[in-house]
Amino acid sequence: MKITRIDKSRIDQADLENPVFGTQFSDHMLVCKYKNGKWEEPEIKPYGPMSFTPALHTLHYGQALFEGQKAYYMSDGTIGIFRPEMNAKRLNHSAKRMFMPEFPEDLFVDGLKQLVEIDRAWVPKKEGYSLYLRPFMFGSSEFVAARPSEEYIFCVVMSPVGPYYAGEVKVKVEETYTRSASGGVGSTKCAGNYGGAFFATDQARKEGYTQVIWTDHKNHELIEESGTMNVGFVIGDTFITPPLSDRILAGITRDSILTLLRDTDIVKNVEERPIKVEEVIAAAEAGTLKEVFGMGTAAVVSQISTIGFRGTDYKIETPKDGYAMKIKKALTAIRMGDADDKYNWMV
Ligand code: COI
Repeated sequence: MKITRIDKSRIDQADLENPVFGTQFSDHMLVCKYKNGKWEEPEIKPYGPMSFTPALHTLHYGQALFEGQKAYYMSDGTIGIFRPEMNAKRLNHSAKRMFMPEFPEDLFVDGLKQLVEIDRAWVPKKEGYSLYLRPFMFGSSEFVAARPSEEYIFCVVMSPVGPYYAGEVKVKVEETYTRSASGGVGSTKCAGNYGGAFFATDQARKEGYTQVIWTDHKNHELIEESGTMNVGFVIGDTFITPPLSDRILAGITRDSILTLLRDTDIVKNVEERPIKVEEVIAAAEAGTLKEVFGMGTAAVVSQISTIGFRGTDYKIETPKDGYAMKIKKALTAIRMGDADDKYNWMV
């Protein structure tokens, strides 16, 4: 890997104590180009602008995808990246579906390790803070014919971050707009899945909500995700989250939480099964809906305090020592190196 270091670090201008999510970028980035059917030698170089032609393929046809993951400053002073091989696999799942070349998984993990090592001073030390890693890939050919790009760029930039949501998370059950459909690209992290969600999210914001709960494209009956997070419900003593499908993103936080819940006694039962809006509303009315929370890399575990459905706001408890917070604590302990990492999640 070619490495070109920055002359002078910008870290003295950075705010690692109160970073605004994804607005400051570390000194270096990783860039790897795909040309003539193969990936070239990756390069770590100073973070900075790239220049492109207006005929850049991705601007026209959106062959673009990304990943999201985090590096943590652990209690013993080492830096750990959380389950990077899972992100490498998911990036390639997205790449396959978007008809883009897969990126070698060992190079992905090794590249991240080297990049984080070089910019280790950018990993915030404050509890609940981390360095957000943003690998992404896009079609970089110069033509506007509607066929797949022939050239691609894989890049990783990094940003110090804190909690994603400040304050209460109120969600509205979305019954008009759809995030994904069967046979579509909902299980990928293609850029359009996020761009396509902004309009509906803004409508919900205007009504006083933080995010939407996406429902299925056919009848808007089944719960799928919440905003950019997977979503889970504790009804009675059972944790329920919708099963993965080609409409739902295979969240790595979701997977980690399911593993922890099955391995501890935080909840009695764990179910991955379709869950209808009506079941959640009935539980809220009956008082058996104990907690609701979103799960994601950026948001970690985010307690949901309100579900808005057809004009009624259903309030949900957000206890400091409830299910969500217990899970978050267990996950944080592994990420900080304060609990036995028996699953070998930290790299
Ligand atoms: C992540 O959790 O990494 C996401 O994908 C959220 C991001 C869109 C901010």
